[in-house]
Amino acid sequence: MLALERNCTIPLQNTQSKAIPRQSTTVLLLIITTEMTPRMILSAVLLAATATSCIAFVLPTGKTVQPPTKTTTKRESTTRLDAALLPSVVTHLSPPLRNTIILSTAASAVAISIYKNHKKKGLPDSAFSEPLPEGTLGCPILGNIDFYTNQGSVETGPGDFFRRQAAKVKNKNIFRYMAFGRPIVMLSGMKNVKQAFNLEFKKIRTTTTLKKFTELFGGESMLFVNEQDRHQYMRRLVGQAMTPEKINLAMPALVASASQQIDQLTMEEPVTMEKVLTNFTLDVAWRQILGLDLKDDEINEFYEAVDNWIGGIVDLRTLLMPNIKHTKAGKGSAYLVSKIERKMDQLERDGPDGSTMSAMYFARDEEDPSKRLSRDEVVSNALLLILAGSETAASTLTVTALAMGLHKDVLKKLKDEQLAMIAKRGTEEMTREMIEKDCPYLDAVIKETMRIKPLGTTGAMRVAEETIVVDGKQIPKGNAVVFNIYLTHEGDPAVKEDNNAHMDIVKGFKPERWLNDSTKPTEYMPFGFGPRYCLGANLAMAEMKVFLALLARRVDFNLVNMSPDNVTWKKASIIPKPADGAVVALASLS
Ligand code: HEM
Repeated sequence: MLALERNCTIPLQNTQSKAIPRQSTTVLLLIITTEMTPRMILSAVLLAATATSCIAFVLPTGKTVQPPTKTTTKRESTTRLDAALLPSVVTHLSPPLRNTIILSTAASAVAISIYKNHKKKGLPDSAFSEPLPEGTLGCPILGNIDFYTNQGSVETGPGDFFRRQAAKVKNKNIFRYMAFGRPIVMLSGMKNVKQAFNLEFKKIRTTTTLKKFTELFGGESMLFVNEQDRHQYMRRLVGQAMTPEKINLAMPALVASASQQIDQLTMEEPVTMEKVLTNFTLDVAWRQILGLDLKDDEINEFYEAVDNWIGGIVDLRTLLMPNIKHTKAGKGSAYLVSKIERKMDQLERDGPDGSTMSAMYFARDEEDPSKRLSRDEVVSNALLLILAGSETAASTLTVTALAMGLHKDVLKKLKDEQLAMIAKRGTEEMTREMIEKDCPYLDAVIKETMRIKPLGTTGAMRVAEETIVVDGKQIPKGNAVVFNIYLTHEGDPAVKEDNNAHMDIVKGFKPERWLNDSTKPTEYMPFGFGPRYCLGANLAMAEMKVFLALLARRVDFNLVNMSPDNVTWKKASIIPKPADGAVVALASLS
């Protein structure tokens, strides 16, 4: 999720339609990079659209945006406007030829500026003797086209591009490629990741140039803070809502959310676990994170608002609209903000409750108790927690459901562990201490899932503000730096097997390896590393454990579409997900 926000790149492709006259069938491929501000993007698109008058764009969603059909009268007036802006020699040209010239000039200007930028950024820093990392930067203007067109595969899911790039170089732990208008150095292996990401805020920083995204996703949240003191301050305050004690207070709400979803399962029809789990994490969002008390008929409204809001990350129309409030994403965001505002009023009136919102609202800075989060900061960070926590946990649990269907012995062991816990502690309540201390196998199942299928994309993109040296290679100032969790887990010498069997959900899924110090993985970072380490890791683990524990207690199931010989993945997702969303048929339900 984070990766998408900060790395957002939206390729626009033209398509030829019957309405397109011959002179304008030139193929235009505009890549909007984080280098371009929305204003630049809009100007480029408008210029190109004015010039061609007839280019249709295919949005990433697959929808085609056609320009309005022109009448002869309109064409004449546009022609007069164009003519007023052009040198007189051009005005004597026929409108089709003139339009082609304008289009070509605009496209060339954009191409030259990107090329110059690219050339400069691709060079080594002459003050350093270390060589650049291996890896090709692809085509001069667009970089590695594969990055945009061939990110994932059905065999392994998202992130396949990085695996292919890694296979081409000698040292997989450091290589470079090019996307978003800059060379990007990809690091893996804990040694390299630690070396670079310990420099966060000192020599590397995240960048955000797309203002509309900050507007939509809460400009005052820690995600968009780039300054060390302020980031630490914000983490201290928001972090007070994520302590083990606060998670313990959240347990009844987590149990209620999980029970509600499991109660709705039915023996009659196959169940798509991805859907159930998305609803579960959204349930946690309104019940626990926001502390709302939604009635049945309001729950769907909440799901829809979050869906529209998160959809704004990849919808180009959101970027192009002059007023974001009128987009679906904007309306979703306004709905959530109004709920958060009302909740703050309620907290002010009635005092604290057990919700995450309450802990944030009343948090005081330990270093200066006169400081607390402003209302805007509470709103922004509450939005961030929903954004960062829902899809990630739902996808991880979906992979776990698939793994349990593929390995029925794992489901059986989970059930036995839960039965033993019930025998010892009863069924009355589930505390954090119980799931932490009495359920080592449950912990192992989740860790193993996140080892094999971590974030398929990278974390947020950082940019080197000074040239740094990692693994004997220089990362010149201005280059981007990212980590790769999958490659880090893949290269772990403690679990590595020939032919990469240790990364295969059928051959390599062995929760038992976590139960013994001699077999435990040593290179492991599913929640990131450094000052931006996942703030919600405790909450994420608790919510995933609660759901799986209750599922194992109450349900037995079989996969409907997949089997050990046939496992396929969605090509694009933040965390890998089975292609069918893990469809299961229940064998028993209690
Ligand atoms: C399985 C579930 C999750 C996974 C795999 C995950 C993974 C990550 C990773 C890898 C990062 C670091 C990104 C980077 O350095 O670029 C991160 C950051 C973050 N995560 Fe999570 N996350 C999960 C669940 C959650 C939950 C449930 C919440 C909160 C409710 C949350 C809140 C955050 C926040 C606020 C940050 C940003 C921290 C900062 O910038 O200082 N995450 N997460």
